[in-house]
Amino acid sequence: MAIKLNHTIVHSLDQREAAKFYAEVFGLPAPSPFGPFLDVNVANEVTLAFLNADGMEIQMQHYAFLVSEKEFDQIFGRVKQRGLKYWADPGQTQEGEINHHFGGRGVYFQDPSGHLLEIITKPYS
Ligand SMILES: [Fe+2]
Repeated sequence: MAIKLNHTIVHSLDQREAAKFYAEVFGLPAPSPFGPFLDVNVANEVTLAFLNADGMEIQMQHYAFLVSEKEFDQIFGRVKQRGLKYWADPGQTQEGEINHHFGGRGVYFQDPSGHLLEIITKPYS
């Protein structure tokens, strides 16, 4: 199988604020403009293409990132530093907690547009 997810559009209230948020919180390279998009690339060659929703209603999406233990500490540290709310579950009922599914660590938080982000150190299996 040679099919790989290459890019996805992340509808945002403010594409600059959103792209900067991802780059800073995840420790990724600075966003680069591509047409109307602001692109942020992750390690497995997937581009997150931030686009202003321009008045369209934003449908909440869920984006999950597999990270190392060290990256989890760094990213989660930035989440807490920013005073963001975080949850152990996608239903956002266990506030201020993380989970330990599959022998790793996982946590959920929101981006500036309300998309639900997740970092995990072990993939779902
Ligand atoms: Fe998930």
